[in-house]
Amino acid sequence: MQISSAKTFKKENGFLVVPFFHEYEKKVPSLYSSELTALVKQGLKAKEFTGKTFETLFYTVESKTLPQKVEFLGCGKAEEFNASLAREIGGAINDLTKAQKKQNVTILLTPELALYTQELTEGLLLKNYRVAKYKTGEDSDAEKKKELKSATLVSQKPEQIKKAIERAEVIAEATNTTRDLVNGPANMIDANYFEKIAKKLQADYGYKLTVLRKNNLEKLGWGGLLMVNQGSPKPPLCLIIEHNGGKKGAKPIILVGKGIIFDTGGYNLKPTKSIEDMNMDTAGASAVIGLFSALKELDIKQNVIGIIPLTENSIGGEAAFPSNIITMLNGKTVEIRSTDAEGRMILADALTYGAERDPKYMIDVATLTGAVIYALGDRYSAMFTNDKELKERLLKAGEDASDNLWELPLHKEHKEKMKSHIADLRNIDDGSAHLAGSSKGAAFLSYFIHDKKGADKAWAHIDIAATAYTVDPRKYELRGGTGVGVRLLIKFLEQL
Ligand code: BES
Ligand code: MG
Ligand code: ZN
Repeated sequence: MQISSAKTFKKENGFLVVPFFHEYEKKVPSLYSSELTALVKQGLKAKEFTGKTFETLFYTVESKTLPQKVEFLGCGKAEEFNASLAREIGGAINDLTKAQKKQNVTILLTPELALYTQELTEGLLLKNYRVAKYKTGEDSDAEKKKELKSATLVSQKPEQIKKAIERAEVIAEATNTTRDLVNGPANMIDANYFEKIAKKLQADYGYKLTVLRKNNLEKLGWGGLLMVNQGSPKPPLCLIIEHNGGKKGAKPIILVGKGIIFDTGGYNLKPTKSIEDMNMDTAGASAVIGLFSALKELDIKQNVIGIIPLTENSIGGEAAFPSNIITMLNGKTVEIRSTDAEGRMILADALTYGAERDPKYMIDVATLTGAVIYALGDRYSAMFTNDKELKERLLKAGEDASDNLWELPLHKEHKEKMKSHIADLRNIDDGSAHLAGSSKGAAFLSYFIHDKKGADKAWAHIDIAATAYTVDPRKYELRGGTGVGVRLLIKFLEQL
């Protein structure tokens, strides 16, 4: 979809969306023509329209200057408007255009809205995402016909909004890349596919890429990742991708993404109604990949390392049993109490590897626990951290990007619960597994964030099990992968 800026609108463009803030009742902005002013006054007078957020007033007009279809869109009070609403307004405009069976839209970017050009454009583009990528023939053509082809943003200073539009394009594309990886099925989006995408990023942006294959992982002793992979016919991989945008020698920001290609649960097999969408268990890995597709273009001036462990969690003759005891990359032994608590096993090794690279901050993003769905629902991801400054930074970034976080506790008693009677640790507290499941997942991970000298790194764990995938989309989302984490991490890195 093409987004452009212009000083005036063209009549031929067919469909014009005109934002209306309550304040315009007293004084319309100078971008309103006299015809537009008359039209909106007519609606206000007839009490058909009040300007409440998302309320609309539609006209088919015959005019020398106006497009045939004009729709006013309520934006509420200017003083209450914000970035999050602007993104939703963008999504709503995409819907209004489709409802008019149009593929091109012109939007009057009045000053109150122009402040949020980036977010508005993000909303337009995020809502233009097509979920049905795997349809063929007529069905596929019908889907494509629904997509918008262009949006023209009319403003008094078209030059000044170009940068915001470009940024929005990069961010939305990154988010949609992540959504593709989350929505795609495990038979197509496998570890090799992730490797291919990472190689493309390397070629396009010059990132450093290291691929740890099964033999490397065995030599190094990635016991957690290898254990989870045991039941799968496809070998595991760990991708390490590096953007050196910061000062030479400056400590890196390390981002770890859980990449379970499909989570059957292993011998602790997931039942029907829990297993169907478990191709989305790559959402953490997908967010890190999406982020790297934007880092260079956004000119992020930090050293950033992405660590992405990838494997299926399958069953089969070779698969691990509950009660198996394995040795992790950091030397700790773990008693497997559930093969379905596999995410923490692959993340633990990745965190150990990350901690040894001496990060300023280390953040992992993972669809780790079903429990977080009950705790927080799908509008907040859960955050657990050992560092106050990192916490404040992440909360703020989440707020600013509408990719919100809520802190949950990581208590030393949660850590105690993860000790085994027979090995150093167990991967679930099966004595009281239903109590604080998300906190205990985080507690397990906290045993793997130290360097070789035993010093813990500043770390945060973000559980996106409830937010990565939605059946109740926001105005700029569709059913399926949301791309959660991408905007959060971009904001976080920008604000460092
Ligand atoms: N991938 C799941 C978590 C999940 C659940 C993601 C629902 C998205 C939706 C994870 O590997 C898992 O199976 N967790 C277990 C942990 C339990 C065994 C302690 C769970 O939540 O049941
Ligand atoms: Mg699992
Ligand atoms: Zn999982």
